[in-house]
Parts: sequence; structure tokens; C-alpha cells
Amino acid sequence: MKRLTVPAIRSRKTDGKTGEPLVMLTAYTVRAAQLLDPHCDMLLVGDSLGQVVYGLDSTIPVSLDMMIAHGAAVVRGSYHSVVIVDLPFGSYEESPEHAIRSATRVMKETGAAAVKMEGGEAMAGTVAFLTARGIPVMGHVGLTPQAVNILGGHKVQGRDDATAAKVIADAKAIDQAGAFAIVIEGVIEPIAIEATRAVSCPTIGIGGSAQCDGQVLVTEDMLGMFDRVPRFVKKFDDLATNISNAVETYAADVRSRSFPEEAQTYQPKK
Ligand code: KIV
Ligand code: NA
Repeated sequence: MKRLTVPAIRSRKTDGKTGEPLVMLTAYTVRAAQLLDPHCDMLLVGDSLGQVVYGLDSTIPVSLDMMIAHGAAVVRGSYHSVVIVDLPFGSYEESPEHAIRSATRVMKETGAAAVKMEGGEAMAGTVAFLTARGIPVMGHVGLTPQAVNILGGHKVQGRDDATAAKVIADAKAIDQAGAFAIVIEGVIEPIAIEATRAVSCPTIGIGGSAQCDGQVLVTEDMLGMFDRVPRFVKKFDDLATNISNAVETYAADVRSRSFPEEAQTYQPKK
């Protein structure tokens, strides 16, 4: 199976009803990438790995080196999906030159096809700068977790006129700057739909709308690895319970000396 390309993703704008939505999930490890890759159009190496893999309180402390290490693993584990790596907080905001230095490292050291950056109008110049120099950019507007200290928490956007107008303006600015797709996170549905209709590139919803041009979730969330998840997460499995049950059985078998069995031990050759 040949790997999808960024232009192929860019061409998948739907009308919100007909047309096949894009499928994206997060991946941080080689094995996750191998398992998700055949089913997805895009794998996102999200800076959500700060919380999911490293137990941090937010995405703020995540470093470019962390993103590159996980990005390279996900590229090694995938053959079909477009791999996109998040630019972490502090690695791109200062200037277009700052952003292209970080993004160039991501492209050279991971083999990913694109980067993602949070932000709207303020980042439009940077999106255009990178795109004009060979680095495809996915945008991310609405509830942008790196701005948690400005937003005052993980708050749904678009409930008031000011944040509603900002989501639309941000999406338009990033689209016009040349982003190949835009994540719309944590936005009331009518505004997610309006933003989707206002841009020429596909939108990828997470806490957005089924009328976005694609969907993304954090894989560990949708697999049921965590008890507490945002409202926008649907648990498609209950891996936390499955893992807990398997480990409970392993522990009991070790303690009763019923593991290892004959099949798992080596004997001298006869
Ligand atoms: O870091 C991440 O996982 C993300 C997605 C939730 C869009 O940015
Ligand atoms: Na992210």
C-alpha cells in the first residue's frame, strides 16, 4: 500500500454530508502506528503525549526532542497514513524563522510529511512561510491546549460572540495562509460547521461536528485507557479493564507458581 500524500488529504474537502470524511488518530509508538495505520488516513504525533505518555499536567513542558523521538517511531511503524507531528509549545511562536528551524528538524529527523501548529491569525504568516518553503502545515483552532493559560482551562469555545468570531477568523486566516487541513477542537457545533464551510481545506473535528471533513481522537481515550475523558470522547473499547484483568491473572499465576508452564520453559535437548 502506497503512502497517502498531503495533496491527497487536501483534496478531500466534503460538503459536510456526502463525501468520505478523513480518519485521523494519535500515535506515539511504533506498535500503535502499526495497528492504526491500515485504518487511518493520517496519524498525528500529538503533543498530548505529554499527558498520555509522560504524565504531565499540560502540553506546555513537551520538548521538540520528545516530539522528534516519538515522530520517528511512528514513521517507522506506518506505511499508508500521512504522519503529522505537533510543534510543541515554545518551538515555533517567536517568528517564522524560529518555526522553520523546528519544523525542518522534525522533517529531517522523523521522515514525517507535515507539522501541526496551534493558533489562528497570529500564526498565519508562519503557516505561509513554511508552506512556501516545502513544509506542509496543519492548523489547529478553537480549544488550543497550548493556550490553556490564556483560555483559563480546557473550555469549549464559541459560546459567546467574541470566541465564536475568533474561531471563524482564525480558521479563515490559516486556510488562506495555505494550511492543508485544520483541526477544530472543542467548539460548539454550529460554529464548527460555520468554520468548516468558511474554509477551502478540510477541517478535522475533535469536539466539533460530524459535518467536519474528518475526525480525530486521542487513541488512548477512544480505547478506554482512561476513566476521565472529555465529553467529546466516545470509548470504542474498555482497554483499562482488559489490561487490569490480564495483569490480575498474571499476578495470581506468578504467586501460585502456575506461571510459567511447560510451554514457556526451556528443557535440555534429548
Ligand atoms: O495533541 C493532540 O493529540 C492533538 C489532537 C487532539 C488534535 O493536538
Ligand atoms: Na496537540
